[in-house]
Amino acid sequence: MKYRTLVSAEQIEARLAEMGAEITADYAGQDLLLIAVLKGAFMTLADLARHIEVPLDMDFMAVSSYGDATKSSGVVRILKDLDTEISGRHVLIVEDIVDSGLTLSYLRRNLEVRGPASLEIATLLLKPGLQKVPLDVKYIGFEIPPDFVIGYGLDYYGQYRNLPYVAVLEEE
Ligand code: PRP
Repeated sequence: MKYRTLVSAEQIEARLAEMGAEITADYAGQDLLLIAVLKGAFMTLADLARHIEVPLDMDFMAVSSYGDATKSSGVVRILKDLDTEISGRHVLIVEDIVDSGLTLSYLRRNLEVRGPASLEIATLLLKPGLQKVPLDVKYIGFEIPPDFVIGYGLDYYGQYRNLPYVAVLEEE
């Protein structure tokens, strides 16, 4: 496959440092629980967390969409739930990308009923205008065009998650 860099490793690192500083300021004096949605978000979580300077712990969820692979149904099945009780906690969901927004919309509703003290979303990438549901995303790394992207946690049939940058797949 041919691909070209869309967001470089240096740009990602610089932006995550800014986001981490913003999150550090916003949550000053509070404990934070970072929740990442597997698998794609693992790299954003690892690198963003290194720039957050309030006490925090981390937990993970794995989800899959019902219906066809296009995940347009918006119905999400939880494959792995949190190990942690989030009642009364300050929760920040960390994602690699918001596309249709359906995954996060479902997750937000699912987590909200568990009674967190606060619940916000941070994403490295967001494709503006493609959201099928209104979604309040507090921390956004980069707004990108609606192309299919790989790298930095994002896959194409399971591959390319290890690229240190975000790239756009190009036609052969
Ligand atoms: C990606 C990404 C988000 C979701 C965003 O995960 O990590 O969870 O898609 O899409 P949406 O805004 O249209 O709901 P994916 O389902 O590809 O799983 P993966 O992270 O395991 O690769």
